[in-house]
Amino acid sequence: MATDLTLLCLEGDGIGPEIMAATLAVLDTVRPLMSRGVTLQHETIGFPALKASGSTIPDPVITAARNADGVILGPVSHNAYPPREEGGLNPSGVLRTSLELFANIRPAKSWPTVPRPVTPEVDLVVVRENLEGFYADRNMASGPGEFMAEPGVALALRKITEKGSTRIARAGFELAQKRGAKRVTAVHKANVMRLSDGLFLDCVRRVAADYPDLPYDELLVDAAAAHLVRDPAAFDVIVTTNMFGDILSDLASELSGGLGLAGSLNLGPTAAMAQAQHGSAPDIAGQNLANPISLILSLAMLLRHLGEATAATAIETQLRDTLPTHRTRDLGGTCSTTDFTAHLCAAIKATA
Ligand code: NAD
Ligand code: IPM
Ligand code: MN
Repeated sequence: MATDLTLLCLEGDGIGPEIMAATLAVLDTVRPLMSRGVTLQHETIGFPALKASGSTIPDPVITAARNADGVILGPVSHNAYPPREEGGLNPSGVLRTSLELFANIRPAKSWPTVPRPVTPEVDLVVVRENLEGFYADRNMASGPGEFMAEPGVALALRKITEKGSTRIARAGFELAQKRGAKRVTAVHKANVMRLSDGLFLDCVRRVAADYPDLPYDELLVDAAAAHLVRDPAAFDVIVTTNMFGDILSDLASELSGGLGLAGSLNLGPTAAMAQAQHGSAPDIAGQNLANPISLILSLAMLLRHLGEATAATAIETQLRDTLPTHRTRDLGGTCSTTDFTAHLCAAIKATA
């Protein structure tokens, strides 16, 4: 018999507990469709962990994440944390770096019955470099990547490496091949960041040369944002650096119908972490209003990555069939988080 999958659940802050409960209910429902059992582990991060042990991500949580087959991470209220010296670490950044999760895969796909802000259909994936770039809280081996040179003068460093750029490009082209993508687009700002984005582009071009059958093009990030709104159907796989990918993936999911619909998987050579694309939504926390789809779709991506495609497909298919009649408030519906989840689970059960 195959050994159980071990998944570590970290519910996070704000709406995290509500959308984690919904996601785990869905996971329970697809258990019969899986080739292996699943053992769930639970650890505390975020504000409750800060209160209990002085850190928003205590060391044992990182060890547990390393030892698990996969991690399910809820959103965190990172912006409201105290400084790092007082235990306010960004769990998302710490886990991405500790587990070497260098690729953040963010699909955006429109749903036939969910209204979207532009008419054309969206079906693309943002492949975002996940460990470098402008992210001062995680892009240095030691110390932050930004500092105050003198009062009134703040400096931030953007890290771009050959290794990071090459492996994210490779991840993008491999995914494009699997998807049968019509195009890979590298998004950059090499007209201004000549050295750093120049290096990024050189690396992507070298990888592109290994995939002569895949059409490849390049766009400046500002133009890419405009093109995404005007003609999202022109995009398929977008490969880009960390911050551009963070921003463009939110734009792409909003174009597909809403940020609450956006799945996201962090991938490394030996680890994988499902993580909702949106934040902790403190404005609606604890009110049973949150849309759990982003974390549920992230779970489906994780299951597919771990070889459980049947369970992943069941989740995606039943979501598509549930959405016409059952939606949370952010999608113009009236369902609570728990009502929506109950309907989705019933739909999966009926076909499992
Ligand atoms: P946010 O994504 O939390 O919220 C933006 C808006 O979208 C809010 O109006 C919120 O109610 C709504 N929204 C988000 N997710 C929703 C959902 N699932 N269902 C229904 N509505 C939803 O962004 P923010 O307000 O800028 O950030 C809040 C906190 O989250 C900050 O502390 C920020 O640092 C953090 N954050 C965390 C992550 C993460 O953990 N992955 C990502 C982004 C922001
Ligand atoms: C994201 C978020 C994170 C980031 C935050 C929560 C650390 O914006 O995952 O999109 O900065 O990368
Ligand atoms: Mn983001």
